[in-house]
Amino acid sequence: MPMTAPIVRIAGLRKSFGDNHVLKGIDFDVQPGDRVAILGSSGSGKSTFLRCLNFMETPTSGRIELKGRLIGKPAAKDPNCMTYTHSELSDVRKQVGMVFQQFNLFPHMSVVGNVMEGLVTVLGVDPKAARERSMAQLEKVGMADKADAYPARLSGGQQQRVAIARALAMDPEVLLFDEPTSSLDPELVGEVLNVIKDLAQEGRTMLLVTHELGFAYHYANKVLFLADGQFYETGTPDEVLKHPKKERTQRFLERFTAFSF
Ligand SMILES: Nc1ncnc2c1ncn2[C@@H]1O[C@H](COP(=O)(O)OP(=O)(O)O)[C@@H](O)[C@H]1O
Ligand SMILES: [Mg+2]
Repeated sequence: MPMTAPIVRIAGLRKSFGDNHVLKGIDFDVQPGDRVAILGSSGSGKSTFLRCLNFMETPTSGRIELKGRLIGKPAAKDPNCMTYTHSELSDVRKQVGMVFQQFNLFPHMSVVGNVMEGLVTVLGVDPKAARERSMAQLEKVGMADKADAYPARLSGGQQQRVAIARALAMDPEVLLFDEPTSSLDPELVGEVLNVIKDLAQEGRTMLLVTHELGFAYHYANKVLFLADGQFYETGTPDEVLKHPKKERTQRFLERFTAFSF
């Protein structure tokens, strides 16, 4: 039994694109400090799920609470559908940070400029203080010495560490990682996973879509396997990754272990 109130509470979350019903009613609570690994085949809705949590996608129906506060108001004609205001969603996005597979750094801004950007334009922090906060985050991900470099001069692993610093600078309550190492050359994966590992060990609340099963096994406390628009199998890393009970989870995992040696 969880002793604390969930930091994120998801109830009946559905998302459709036309008649493509991607998420079909997801219920899940994220407790403070949870490290949730999300697995699933390509196209199963992993990104859509994360994007609904920070409202880059608007849920078709269902409720999301952040720190006990319901986001949006039930629509008059259907209380399962919510209506959202612009200012409310921009507030949510400050609290729920996202790190993307493709980094999404601004090419025309230096490293520190990228990390400062949200602080100055979204939070209205004055540029001097924003720079200090940004440098502290760059220090944390081992990128302070590249503060004045431009993204194009950095490796993918370095760019992703900058993107993580940018998310951290906003001091979010929850961090979402959408396949943060999937576009990296294999030898660069470790440096990014190490940064995420440090954040996990600090007790950061995070949801991570990943195919790095070893990382999920060691650093997640909950694993979710998404299939058919539902969390098809959920449990501890040991339960889901080592001893999956359900057939589709087993088949999915076999593909990862087929060539183990
Ligand atoms: N903006 C969108 N418009 C229309 N369809 C989308 C959109 N985003 C995702 N989809 C569809 O939703 C499904 C799930 O996609 P996605 O969440 O990206 O899967 P995953 O991240 O697990 O690979 C796919 O069928 C995809 O084509
Ligand atoms: Mg995806």
